[in-house]
Amino acid sequence: MGKRNKITVVGAGNVGATAAHWLASKELGDVVLVDIIEGMPQGKALDLAQAAPVEGFDSRLVGSTNDYSLTKDSDVVIITSGLARKPGMSRDDLLKTNAGIVSSVVDEVVKYSPDSILIIVSNPLDAMCQVALRRSGFPKHRVIGMAGVLDSARMRCFLAEALDVSVENVTAFVLGGHGDTMVPLPRYSTCAGIPITELLSAEQVESIVKRTAGGGAEIVGLLKTGSAYYAPSAAAVEMTEAILKDKKKILPCAAYLEGEYGVNGLYVGVPCKLGARGLEQIIEINLTAEERIALQKSAASVQELVDVLGI
Ligand code: NAI
Ligand code: 2OP
Repeated sequence: MGKRNKITVVGAGNVGATAAHWLASKELGDVVLVDIIEGMPQGKALDLAQAAPVEGFDSRLVGSTNDYSLTKDSDVVIITSGLARKPGMSRDDLLKTNAGIVSSVVDEVVKYSPDSILIIVSNPLDAMCQVALRRSGFPKHRVIGMAGVLDSARMRCFLAEALDVSVENVTAFVLGGHGDTMVPLPRYSTCAGIPITELLSAEQVESIVKRTAGGGAEIVGLLKTGSAYYAPSAAAVEMTEAILKDKKKILPCAAYLEGEYGVNGLYVGVPCKLGARGLEQIIEINLTAEERIALQKSAASVQELVDVLGI
């Protein structure tokens, strides 16, 4: 009998609990939900476990408050703990608080699951990946950030709507840090293999690019009490699935670059191949001078945060 996969989700708030829901319904493994709030992760895990007979999934779900012993030997750990962005608050405002939270969580995770692969979700994303990499001492292929799957899913959603086609026909390409300086690449975005630049006007493309870059803020503005969680959690789960099933799937992820794309010693979003070893390959593509400048600008904004943290 094969070993059951084990996935820990730290932070059982909106993103974490919804990730647990997707993970269980896809039967990707047993799920441990951890939070600092007494009873809440246990309550959500029990509630989800009671949905299993109705939905027909056999994932086991448990919750824990601050006790990481239950997370022992996890294959993948999704870290969503931290404060969410509130209206009027930038992702960067979250920097120092969330860096402290991510550091303390990583210390515990590493103790119990030294061979795990970390998927970071907490914001500001690229800087939190850098915190997790340094703090864990893990090799870079086992510390990966979720942002590009979400950002490109947003772009795919807007493109499918504009083209009136299935979302499954649409691919989208977004590079750079998870922030206002992200770099959506229409040239590499397609509908059934056809570049979208041949199907939509320059104005339509520009407006979708802009809406994608502001995608997180648009939802914060509507929700008012928090930020997006359905698409973010689905995105983290797609990455988890690619790893647990060794799919060798190419997805845009925040990766620690050491010279790729002219960036050194910094997390930035680039196309990555995900498989059993985690981030197995960074895919380098040709950029135009304009795209390269936009990516450098995005990397510079990540560097600023990393400098503030001194890591
Ligand atoms: P939330 O507030 O619903 O949940 C966060 C949870 O973390 C809370 O339940 C809180 O009690 C818990 N927490 C705080 N400190 C903790 C600690 N030391 N250990 C364990 N748990 C702790 O927030 P939500 O909406 O789930 O967002 C979570 C994070 O993910 C935020 O930082 C948010 O900005 C980020 N995010 C990132 C996205 C991305 O694309 N990378 C997309 C969406 C959210
Ligand atoms: C988002 O893009 C808040 O980063 C989060 O929705």
